[in-house]
Amino acid sequence: VPEIVCLSIIVLGASGDLAKKKTFPALFHLYSQGFLPPDEVHIFGYARTKISDDKLRNRIHGYIVSDRSASPSEDVSKFLNLVKYVSGSYDSAEGFQLLDKEIEKQETSKCSREGSSQRLFYLALPPSVYPSVCKMIRKYCMNKSDLGGWTRVVVEKPFGKDLDSAEKLSSQIGELFDETQIYRIDHYLGKELVQNLLVHRFANRFFLPLWNRDNIDNVQIVFREDFGTEGRGGYFDEYGIIRDIIQNHLLQVLCLVAMEKPVSLKPEHIRDEKVKVLQSVLPINDEEVVLGQYVGYRDDPTVPDHSNTPTFATVILRLHNERWEGVPFILKAGKALNSRKAEIRVQFKEVPGDIFQCQKQGRNEFIIRLQPSEAMYMKLTVKQPGLEFSTVQSELDLSYRQRYQGVTIPEAYERLILDTIRGDQQHFVRRDELKVAWKIFTPLLHRIDNGEMNPFPYQPGSRGPAEADELSAKAGYVQTDGY
Ligand code: BG6
Repeated sequence: VPEIVCLSIIVLGASGDLAKKKTFPALFHLYSQGFLPPDEVHIFGYARTKISDDKLRNRIHGYIVSDRSASPSEDVSKFLNLVKYVSGSYDSAEGFQLLDKEIEKQETSKCSREGSSQRLFYLALPPSVYPSVCKMIRKYCMNKSDLGGWTRVVVEKPFGKDLDSAEKLSSQIGELFDETQIYRIDHYLGKELVQNLLVHRFANRFFLPLWNRDNIDNVQIVFREDFGTEGRGGYFDEYGIIRDIIQNHLLQVLCLVAMEKPVSLKPEHIRDEKVKVLQSVLPINDEEVVLGQYVGYRDDPTVPDHSNTPTFATVILRLHNERWEGVPFILKAGKALNSRKAEIRVQFKEVPGDIFQCQKQGRNEFIIRLQPSEAMYMKLTVKQPGLEFSTVQSELDLSYRQRYQGVTIPEAYERLILDTIRGDQQHFVRRDELKVAWKIFTPLLHRIDNGEMNPFPYQPGSRGPAEADELSAKAGYVQTDGY
């Protein structure tokens, strides 16, 4: 349990989807596991809509109980009682002054023990309002305790639309808050198997000598969803799959797969290594990009009739460094595909001087399934049991559900919110990291925005455009398990 003395968590954009579906349920689970002591924590929702405390509580109630239904109802009502609501617009001095007053009221009345006040502002809002909201927080709502404490802001992606807009946003916020106060969330960094990457890579002798261009043929990082963009077509159309998934979630995963061993586990050391990976990415070659748009995407009334926004993309990134020169990193993401899955597939080179015809059965492959059903498994060739001396491909399988029965794997948001309370920035994106991430994708994004590259149509429920599979195959990827 973190050392909390008096913590206010303020969810801005409290009536929005993200707050309802992710932020409040994550706060509830932290609360019910004892990470948010009720006499030291209070939670505020802030948004434009004029509603009562109870109305907000009712709205979030359904998401909290449906999420993990085992929670005792007593916990739910105790948690909901901690939640208060303040309404105001995102650039109104009045609204934020009122918010500050409400926070202070709680701090003085409820947190009777002497101690520092801590204020965590969670911006579950579109980035267009970040500058004004941050200005208002800075001006009216900072922690004022003489006994120390802190004010932190959590910002969601998309953090900008390209290099210039992201840099502008970073400067605007950077003038108001120190880097140590800004938590740029990428919820993929809170996923169990993404967090395990560091351990997998650097705590296992098995992998250390193999993890390089001499042994690895290609790495594929895939995100698939089996539903489309219905209900959020307006947002999605402005951003597209590269900004929504690849530039952030998949690129962050790539950094952890490809980085060198950090000097220590200190957040700065880890983030330094991630930046080096990003800096080594070569400019993207248009020949190594396939875009797709599912048939029916434009039927959504919030999507323009002639939209060429990709809902699918395969992009190959190449790293110019000693470890990875020549190894393609195939990043692939798509909406409305045949399954919901996120995984990393590391394919090894063929065995030199092979005497068993292993190639026929498939090559060695190491797979990390981020979701669903977290697992790590390894495809390897074994002797077919029996009298004949033939070989077959089999698996060494570490399936989390079987191996760790009874252990609840926390939601990414739960873990990341706890990190912000603890002041641990390891799993958050640093400003320079974000800048290089945008630098990698901005030229391609501009070409797409200018209509210089168009998506191939694909059927919902399919694997995506056939051209994408052809591109992956050309890069050396051998399809296994149907993936
Ligand atoms: C979000 C994207 O960041 O991640 C969504 O904006 C996507 O489009 C979601 O659906 C996927 O998250 P997860 O955790 O369900 O894989």
